[in-house]
Amino acid sequence: MNSNVRPESMARIVNKELADAFIEEQIAAVRAQVGDKKVLLALSGGVDSSVVAALLIKAIGKQLICVHVNHGLMRKDESENVIKIFGEELDANLIYVDATDRFLDLLKDVAEPEKKRKIIGAEFINVFADEARKLEGVSFLAQGTIYPDILESFKQAEGKKAVKSHHNVGGLPEDLQFELVEPIKLLFKDEVRVVGEALGLPHGMVYRQPFPGPGLGVRCLGAITRDRLNALREADAILREEFDICGLAEKVWQYFVVVPDIKSVGVKDESRYEGWPAIIRAVNTKDAMTATIEEIPYAVLHKITDRITHEVEGINRVLLDLTPKPIGTIEWE
Ligand code: XMP
Repeated sequence: MNSNVRPESMARIVNKELADAFIEEQIAAVRAQVGDKKVLLALSGGVDSSVVAALLIKAIGKQLICVHVNHGLMRKDESENVIKIFGEELDANLIYVDATDRFLDLLKDVAEPEKKRKIIGAEFINVFADEARKLEGVSFLAQGTIYPDILESFKQAEGKKAVKSHHNVGGLPEDLQFELVEPIKLLFKDEVRVVGEALGLPHGMVYRQPFPGPGLGVRCLGAITRDRLNALREADAILREEFDICGLAEKVWQYFVVVPDIKSVGVKDESRYEGWPAIIRAVNTKDAMTATIEEIPYAVLHKITDRITHEVEGINRVLLDLTPKPIGTIEWE
């Protein structure tokens, strides 16, 4: 499947039968493409890369080398979970790279969103190249690119302004020495989940909310600092915990916290307390091309606000984003 255009004749994958047929087709295509060579996979632990990992493990077994890069922009406990699920439970060929300092040093003082995205995308490739050099015979790079990534990145070709450069499409350097393996690049998100379930991945993993490649980097708005990034990570963990408790996690497609680089005046322990606002965003969508806002009960919002402002160092307000897509994109950067 080398074309970046989804054929009109391609049926929407809505059930296990269609998913099984797609899987068989892709297993044959991947085997034909890679032969006995090794393939590196960027395993972020999100739905897309997890589905690609399961598909490739089925197709080429230990020829697949999963590389999990902790870019320092992961959600709380996320890298630990990737190691536990893939390294321990699924016994994948997994290399863990803690590149936190590398990424945060490069991103220091960089405030422009597209620049941040390009830096993160390019550095991902650099990290993979470094890993590949340590290995013998790696010729391929597998990616969890999906169709909305391609559509948004290539709208320029139709004379429209690209909305944003998704990091697994826009940031590749021209001298890239890997050939790409992108088995789910013509699928929409809902189809990726159906394929994931057909591959036998746990329901919780397949229906987990998506997380963008640049991670918390595009939610820690403007120039990233470690203290604001930590505040964002802690606030986001509280939001996820509370959505789990009240049942919204099952119902809402994507929910997260954004922390902008502005401070307001507050008061804590009878003293002036300047802090950042935590902005809550909770959206529903089918294919990420458009999105609507989920209504969150006030009691839940009050509890989240109370916890975030009391438990997270540096946050003194909680705001709610009510903007649909369009006009807002789902992420803020
Ligand atoms: P936007 O912000 O463009 O996001 O409305 C649409 C969906 O894509 C996710 N997203 C990304 N996914 N690499 C990805 O794999 C990226 O660079 C990226 N940027 C945004 C976003 O979280 C939402 O689900």
